[in-house]
Amino acid sequence: MTAIKSESGAQHARIHGIGAYRPSRVIPNSEVIEAIDSSDEWIQQRSGIKQRRWATPEETVLFMSVEAAKQALERSGVDARQIDCVIVATVSHMFQTPAIATKIAYDLGTDQAAAFDISAACAGFCHGVSLASDMVRSGSAGYVLVIGVERLSDLTDVGDRGTAFIFADGAGAAVVGPSDTPGIGPVVWGSDGEQYDLISQREDWRDVIAAEHPEMPHLVMQGNPVFRWASYVMAKIGQQALDRAGVRAEDLDCFVPHQANMRITDAMARSMKLPETVKIARDIAEQGNTSAASIPLAIDRMYAEGEAKSGDVALLIAFGAGLAYAAQVVVLP
Ligand code: UT7
Repeated sequence: MTAIKSESGAQHARIHGIGAYRPSRVIPNSEVIEAIDSSDEWIQQRSGIKQRRWATPEETVLFMSVEAAKQALERSGVDARQIDCVIVATVSHMFQTPAIATKIAYDLGTDQAAAFDISAACAGFCHGVSLASDMVRSGSAGYVLVIGVERLSDLTDVGDRGTAFIFADGAGAAVVGPSDTPGIGPVVWGSDGEQYDLISQREDWRDVIAAEHPEMPHLVMQGNPVFRWASYVMAKIGQQALDRAGVRAEDLDCFVPHQANMRITDAMARSMKLPETVKIARDIAEQGNTSAASIPLAIDRMYAEGEAKSGDVALLIAFGAGLAYAAQVVVLP
C-alpha cells in the first residue's frame, strides 16, 4: 500500500499582531431612540452602551477588513506575502458566494493565500483563532490572517426595540503564526442548536423575494433568553478554557469577552471570581455590539488605554447566534 507522507508545523502558535478599524459615524443613544420607545438611561443601564459606530456606504465589509488587516500585518511585522490563509468571520457579507476572504487576500497582496469565510456569528473570531492555531501547528499554513468584520447596521431594523440599540459595525484582525512558546491555549468550543431560533435573520431570502413588498430580513433576537444563557453558561466555558490552559484566574491579566452586553461581562467576571487585578474589556460602551469584530476591537482599545500590553495573558470568550461559542487563553502580542 502506498503510504501518504504527512507533515507537521511549528511546535507552538501565537498572535503576532492585532489591528482594528472603527467606522467614522458615531451614533449616540439619543439618535437611536428616535425610532424606538426607549431612553438613553434604559440603554445604558441594560446594556452599558453609550454610543456605537455605524459604517458609511464607503466603509464596506471589504474596506474595513483590509484596513484592519493592514494594521495587524504592520504591527506584527509580517508581510502580506507570508500569509498562507485568510479566514474571515462575518455574517454581514451580503453575497451567498463568493466568500469575501478571497477578495481581501487579493487586495492585501497575499501570494494567492487560501481564503474562506466562516459563519459562527459573534463567536466567529475565536473560532478563527482556533483554526489558525491548529493550521500553524499542523503545517498547513505558516501565517494565518483572521478577520472579524461586521456591518450589522445593514441587517438591523432601526425600529426594533430589541436590537436597534445593540448592533454596530467594525472590523478587527489578528495575524497568527509560529511561536517558540505556547501563545494560544486549547479552545473550548461548542454549540446549542436547540436554541437555534434565539438570534436569527427574520426569514429565508426565498421568502423575502416571494413577498409582495420585499423587506430586508433583519436580525431578530430573543434578548432575555440569550442574556440568561450567556451569563450562566459562558462563565463555565471560560473556566474550562482557563483549566485547559493551566492558568488560574489570578494569573490572568485581561478578560476579553464578546462585547454583547456590559451586564453579561460583569456576570461572567463575578461567576469566575476574577480578581480585581484582571483588566476587563469594556469597548461596548463606545462601540456597541459588533459581533465577530468585537474581541479584536476590544483588545485594540485596551492597548490604546494602557490596560493591556504585549505579553499579557488574556481570556477570550465569544458567543452568539447558533447558539455557538468558543473560548481560549492567549498571550497578547
Ligand atoms: O451578540 C450576540 C449575543 N447577544 C447577546 O448576548 C444579547 C443578550 N441580551 C441582552 O443583551 C439583553 O437581553 C437586552 C439588552 C437585549 C435586553 O435587556 P433585558 O434586561 O433582557 O430586557 P428585557 O427584554 O427582559 O425587557 C425588560 C423590559 C421590558 O418591559 P417590562 O415587560 O418589564 O415592562 C421590555 O418591554 O424592558 C422593556 N424594553 C425596553 N425598554 C426601553 C425592551 N427593550 C427596550 C428598549 N427600551 N429598547
